[in-house]
Amino acid sequence: MKAVIFDLDGVITDTAELHYQAWKNLADSLKIHFDYKLNEELKGIGRMDSLNRILNFGGKTDQYTEIEKIALTEQKNTEYVALLDQLSPKSIYPGIKEFLDTLRNQNLKIGLASASKNGPKILELLEITDYFDTIVDPVSVKMGKPAPDIFLKAAEQLEVHSSKCIGIEDSEAGIHSIKTAGMFAIGVGTEKVMKAAGADLVICDTKNLHWDQIINTVNHQYS
Ligand code: BG6
Ligand code: MG
Repeated sequence: MKAVIFDLDGVITDTAELHYQAWKNLADSLKIHFDYKLNEELKGIGRMDSLNRILNFGGKTDQYTEIEKIALTEQKNTEYVALLDQLSPKSIYPGIKEFLDTLRNQNLKIGLASASKNGPKILELLEITDYFDTIVDPVSVKMGKPAPDIFLKAAEQLEVHSSKCIGIEDSEAGIHSIKTAGMFAIGVGTEKVMKAAGADLVICDTKNLHWDQIINTVNHQYS
């Protein structure tokens, strides 16, 4: 293995609650019910696709023009970005910093494949930008997760063949993206959900990300 490619939201830090608050306020203003169940379904899904799912859920798909929808996503993002200010290095999930150090010591390349256009800003707030050899701009890929595009783009930018990459994700869409990109997939979450999505290795908590265990599982699988 030559590279590890990370998702951001839900893998490196917990931004799901902040996305929830911003979407909830927007949905309330549109008189659409929004709850944690729907928020869960938006994990890994890009901003406009997320809005379309919310409008669809509220039966209001046809009520807004494309221009109005862009304004709505901007409204949500302005609120989300204001909430991001509460992030600091303390917001990094347990074990992630140590894991990044180990990857570096093992001379592995490190990439970011997040659907979030706020990815670079979040890495800055967490003070871990320097660990990343590449960050994919989600605008540069044709299809969002679950399509493989963003993980393939990360591998291309790192100049590593996808079969030599490990992807780490917390969303079902993200695991599908990694697997269709032909990579080894680590799922952060529950065994049942992550295995059903196709994860090769499941960890329930980021503090359990141990390189030795990962590489043993990879070797066992490919032997
Ligand atoms: C993903 C999140 O990482 O990024 C989604 O899981 C979010 O919930 C998506 O919608 C896009 O994020 P942003 O910051 O560009 O609106
Ligand atoms: Mg995620």
